[in-house]
Amino acid sequence: MNMSPQENSPNSPRKPLQVRQLKIDLSQGFSRHWLGGDAFRTHLYNAQSYSFPLGEQYFIDSVRAALPMLKDEQLKEEIKGFIGQEASHRHIHMQYNQQLDAQGLSYFLEGYVAWRIRTAAMLSVQSNLAITMAYEHFTAIFADGVLSEPCWIGDAEEPLKTLWTWHSIEETEHKSVAFDSYLALGGGYFRRIAWFLYVSMLFSVDTTVQTMHCLYKDGQLFKPKTWWQALRYCLRPRGLLWFSLPHVLAYFNPGFQPWERKNLHLTEQWLVEQSNTYREIGKPAQI
Ligand SMILES: [Fe+2]
Ligand SMILES: [Fe+2]
Repeated sequence: MNMSPQENSPNSPRKPLQVRQLKIDLSQGFSRHWLGGDAFRTHLYNAQSYSFPLGEQYFIDSVRAALPMLKDEQLKEEIKGFIGQEASHRHIHMQYNQQLDAQGLSYFLEGYVAWRIRTAAMLSVQSNLAITMAYEHFTAIFADGVLSEPCWIGDAEEPLKTLWTWHSIEETEHKSVAFDSYLALGGGYFRRIAWFLYVSMLFSVDTTVQTMHCLYKDGQLFKPKTWWQALRYCLRPRGLLWFSLPHVLAYFNPGFQPWERKNLHLTEQWLVEQSNTYREIGKPAQI
C-alpha cells in the first residue's frame, strides 16, 4: 500500500509552484451579501475564510515538519512552494476577515479550533500530514467547483470573485503536495482513511456551525429565503452536494491520488487573462 509519489502519482504535473501576491484592495470593504445577493452562499464562503488563517498555518507546520525527513529534492521544492502559497492565502484572508468583523460577524469557533490545533502537536508527523491532506482534499474539491461550475461564484462581486478564483487556482496547483509527502514517508491506507473520516466530521460540523453563526449575526438565519438558498446551492445539479460527493468517495479508493482528477487546465486561462491582478513572487527563503 505504501508507494513512492512517483509510483502513485504518474499524472502529477510536478511543475514548480508559483507564489503570487494578489493586487487587490480590501480596505474599502465589500457588500454584506457579496455573492449574488445570496446570504447563504455568502456566509458559507465567509465561514471558510474565517477558518483559513489558523487552518492554513497548521497545514504549513505539518508539511514543514516532514521536510527534513524527505529525500526527493523536487518534492522539497514543492513543499516550499506550498508554504509560500498558503502563507499568502493566510495574509489576504486575514484582511478579508477584518472586513467581516467590521460587518459585525465573528469567528465563533476560533478558540475551539486553536485548542484542537495545539492538541494535534502531540501527533506524529505522518498523522498530521494525514489530517492536512484530508483537509486539502476537501479544499481541492471546493476549488474545483469554484473553477468549473458558474453557479458557485459566477455572480460574485469584485474583488472577492478574483480572490476566491486565485485561491482556488493555487489550491488546485498544490493539491498533491501533502499527499505525496505522506506517501514518501511511508504513510499507509488505514491511517489515511481513519484521519479522513475524522476530518470529514470536523469539516462538516465546523462549516455548518460557523455558517449558521454568520447568518444569525446577520439576521438572516430564520428567514425562509435563506433556507431556500441553502437547498438550491446544495441540491441543484452541479451544486455543492452532487458535485462534491463522487470526489469525496474517490478518496476511499486504495489507489487514490489527487491528480487522477486532471483539472489543471481550469487554472490556465485565468492566469493568462488576469495576469494584471497578481504579481509573481519567490518562495520564502526561510522556511
Ligand atoms: Fe490556501
Ligand atoms: Fe492548500
